[in-house]
Amino acid sequence: MENQRPSWTSRGAFILAAVGSAVGLGNIWRFPYIMGQNGGAAFLVVYLLLILTVCFVPLVAELAMGKTTKRECIGAFESVNPKLKTIGALNPITGILIMAFYFVVGGWILNYICLGFAKCEITNYAQYFSNFTQDAYSNCIFTLLFLFICVLFTARGIKKGIEFANNVLMPMFAVILLFLIISSLQLPNAHLGLEYMFKPDFSKINPHMFLTALGQALFTLSIGMGAMLTYGSYIKDDRSITKSAYTIIFSDTLFALMAGIMIFPAIFSFGLEPDSGAGLVFVTLPYIFAQIPYGNLLLAAFFILLMAAAVTSGISMLEVSVAAFTERMNMSRQKACLYIFIIISALAIPATLSFGLLSKFSIFGKSVFDFLDFATSNLLMPLNAFFICIITGWLMNIEGKMFVQNKLVAKLFDTGLRFVVPAILLGLLYVGLK
Ligand code: TRP
Repeated sequence: MENQRPSWTSRGAFILAAVGSAVGLGNIWRFPYIMGQNGGAAFLVVYLLLILTVCFVPLVAELAMGKTTKRECIGAFESVNPKLKTIGALNPITGILIMAFYFVVGGWILNYICLGFAKCEITNYAQYFSNFTQDAYSNCIFTLLFLFICVLFTARGIKKGIEFANNVLMPMFAVILLFLIISSLQLPNAHLGLEYMFKPDFSKINPHMFLTALGQALFTLSIGMGAMLTYGSYIKDDRSITKSAYTIIFSDTLFALMAGIMIFPAIFSFGLEPDSGAGLVFVTLPYIFAQIPYGNLLLAAFFILLMAAAVTSGISMLEVSVAAFTERMNMSRQKACLYIFIIISALAIPATLSFGLLSKFSIFGKSVFDFLDFATSNLLMPLNAFFICIITGWLMNIEGKMFVQNKLVAKLFDTGLRFVVPAILLGLLYVGLK
């Protein structure tokens, strides 16, 4: 079994895939709207603090757990102690719940690609967004189509597709983002957006903001559902995973900040509401494109590249369940993909409908879409990250000195892994459940 497992062709291929997993809708869609709902700059400070310190630890731990056990994620837990199997199974379950709403947003992207080519004259994009998200039929089709694209890549084995997406499409995406930032900064009142993003009002900080920032940080780094563990399990060479972790965190943060600097000046310039929620980027971006010659085509190009970023993330989420199905049940990749497609569709359809047909239906006061988002980012992912820290730190004896030369940093890592980070994660989980 061991020899039949896939592995990365090179260290570069692994890093690219891991960065591809991290950079996605979390950066471009989720980060700006969560920051907008949480008061801007103060949230950014808390977020950066968490992503640069606390999140580094479970990221390295997850990669290390995959790399040392060389098993898919349930097996990785089982190999430490058979009783931990159930805890391991929480990872693919979390993943399936995340995918159920992630692919809905993927569907919105497909809709906007069509919009870019359609050349229609729209004046009120907030209205447009609200109308199309209510349209059950087209949303289901777009969501399932997006899911299908990701499943297809995953079923065919992933290396070539991911390498192309990351080597060619991601740099193109960065260029188009830079271009949009420049356009956005030239809009009237752009400075108000920059102030909103970078001038913190510390009185806004509260425990809930920490939980939301943590949820966003885990989400955007793909920590806490076995994606990094599974990718880590395909690493062959013996080189350090801390460097990979730095690269992942650095690139991911760069993309998130770029998304913010692109969006917030435009929001203030066009008099939109920063706290308007999940539609924020979809409502704001068309206004920026409308100012640019050939804006329609550029909008289509932007969303095609965003789709590529979202597909490389989607693939990494699918891979967790596919690896679990194929390795545990001796199933072919194709068959596993088919089953997973069916399971996710069944959950994604109610999430898709939560803006229209099911808008009155709520779970704990939230729509299906919002509930899935909240339950995964703010509860399940911190919980999974907590287990990863405890298991690698206390049961597997993973230590800082295994990957870091500097003794002080290694010591700090150990204390973080065993005590500080699990305590912070538990504390924030408590805040979330209260
Ligand atoms: N990090 C990705 C993004 O920002 C989404 C993602 C991929 C993810 N794999 C994950 C989120 C695993 C949580 C867990 O779009």
